[in-house]
Amino acid sequence: MEALLQQIEKYKQEIAAAEANTPEAVEAFRIQYLGTKGLLKTVMGEMKNVPNEHKKAFGQVLNEFKQFVETKFETLQQAAGGGANSASDKSFDWSLPGSFVPVGTRHPLTAVRNQIVSIFKTLGFAIAEGPEIEDDWHNFGAMNLPEDHPARDMQDTFYISQNPAWLLRTHTSSTQARVMESQKPPIRVICPGRVYRNETISARAHCFFHQIEGLYIDENVSFADLKQTLYFFVQEMFGKDVKVRFRPSYFPFTEPSAEMDISCLICDSKGCNVCKHTGWVEILGSGMVHPKVLENFGIDSNKYTGFAFGMGVERICQLKYQVNDLRLYSQNDVRFLKQFTGVV
Ligand code: DAH
Repeated sequence: MEALLQQIEKYKQEIAAAEANTPEAVEAFRIQYLGTKGLLKTVMGEMKNVPNEHKKAFGQVLNEFKQFVETKFETLQQAAGGGANSASDKSFDWSLPGSFVPVGTRHPLTAVRNQIVSIFKTLGFAIAEGPEIEDDWHNFGAMNLPEDHPARDMQDTFYISQNPAWLLRTHTSSTQARVMESQKPPIRVICPGRVYRNETISARAHCFFHQIEGLYIDENVSFADLKQTLYFFVQEMFGKDVKVRFRPSYFPFTEPSAEMDISCLICDSKGCNVCKHTGWVEILGSGMVHPKVLENFGIDSNKYTGFAFGMGVERICQLKYQVNDLRLYSQNDVRFLKQFTGVV
């Protein structure tokens, strides 16, 4: 017993004199003295050899020794810098609120485009992108709009050059052309992108906006597939209660063609400026791909059929978030943009 106490005193001197100037050395100290196979454990192990009548006194000595080693360890740790910000560091107030990290905001058009893309992705559509500066063929000719076609006037075009004609694409249907040029059926793509038209800027019109084009070509694709796909999209985007209707329409690149309306979400179909008091808002054009368009790319129109559609991202965004002035999208006013914090 006496020898043991002397031994502990010796250890204390040794420990008091110990130095550790780096976090590594502090760790070595911890392992040597406080580790699972360290000195403290060994000394504690002596308890079983101490006669019963001395156990209480020896227990006190052991406790003191333990505290001595731990205090020394903390002192070394703080001096070496390793203890800063550790849970035992009393100088740091862990209950303080964290510092504010500003969170960025996605542009509402980006968020809505992403939402649309992910809905069509679940149906197996791949993404295709095309150039914003196009030639006449991909924007018009290939889409069954020959040079003197009156429907070209519907899309006031920004021409970059006349001969050969380079232009800013007026619709993402040009990407359809590029996809059919490079891929063989079955084709199932959506093509998001920016388009340009020579329009006077106002709340309802802009010289650039965004579209998402869809194209699905395979054997036995029918108008029922088109309707079902777009119906699914609307339900995913706007919820199960939204109503849908198709109206016959005309596009040179589809036959038959239809425009799709949904019940007005702004006024709950009661009648407002957005739905022009009809209760319905047009959200996209669509149809079965015209056989001539398929043949333009060597796709056998007797074997393959397809559907296509094109929608305006701004319009979807207007209905989803009630943005009623197109100019807001490009003014970069943070008071507008901040309202979309958290929208993904
Ligand atoms: N390109 C048309 C537009 O910009 C939209 C459109 C209508 C795209 C019908 C299509 C379609 O693919 O089938 O107004």
